[in-house]
Amino acid sequence: MNINKAPFMEELIQTCSNMYRLGWNERNGGNISMRLTQFEAAPYLDTAKSLRRISLHFDASPLANKLFLVTGTGKYFKNVERDPAHNLGLIRVAEDGVNADILWGFSDGGGPTSELPAHFSSHIARLSRDSSHRVIIHCHATNILAMTYTHPLDDRTFTRSLWQMSTECIVVFPEGVGVLPWMLCGTDEIGRATAEKMNDYRLCVWAQHGVFGAGSSLDETFGIIETAEKAAEIYMKTLNVSRLNTITDEQLRLLAEAFKADYRKDFLF
Ligand code: 13P
Ligand code: ZN
Repeated sequence: MNINKAPFMEELIQTCSNMYRLGWNERNGGNISMRLTQFEAAPYLDTAKSLRRISLHFDASPLANKLFLVTGTGKYFKNVERDPAHNLGLIRVAEDGVNADILWGFSDGGGPTSELPAHFSSHIARLSRDSSHRVIIHCHATNILAMTYTHPLDDRTFTRSLWQMSTECIVVFPEGVGVLPWMLCGTDEIGRATAEKMNDYRLCVWAQHGVFGAGSSLDETFGIIETAEKAAEIYMKTLNVSRLNTITDEQLRLLAEAFKADYRKDFLF
């Protein structure tokens, strides 16, 4: 069967194109990794056959033998649809946890995203919380990025501002968002810091860079980023005018309780 027609592949390709058109993935900006089950991948390729082995340069042992469809380093989201095998790869973390086998894709000899440490550390953190977890998306969502230039960078106040900018926010991400200060990207260090935030949140903002989102499907992960990005857009649109109204803490509480959202009570007054 043609892997390009696999449901997981079609959905990933569509997500890349959507995100590109939203302006969140300029040039090679952003990356996606999605865990696949053996059951999903097996009809499309021999999952025992390695095309080549790469070193991960970090320990991802909790993910040993797991399969991930990943965007390529230096590759453009714009081009994924036109040539999936060139811009994406399917990898399996080796038994030793420090290598991975490429099973499909990266056809020009390329490799997975430079943010793989942050992706894999986040997958480990989220899987320890939720066995249905599957997807990590990193992108340069415009308004979230803009907000990191104009807003204090702590989890509580950043979360509160997003919650106040749109009624659905506290329901979609009741646990809030984590915020990291500017750090060097592509490193194990930012990977560890992201994973630490992912213990508590499914969204982690990277100041002056972008955002990481986690979820059990592409839709859910895209949706949580999209919701935060919309709230950040309202925040930026109303930043230089006098805000006459807001969603009060009492209203946030009412919302969270009405929708039975397990929210961060300590983030409200
Ligand atoms: P990659 O091209 O290696 O995925 O990097 C893009 C990016 O957004 C880095 O943070
Ligand atoms: Zn980035």
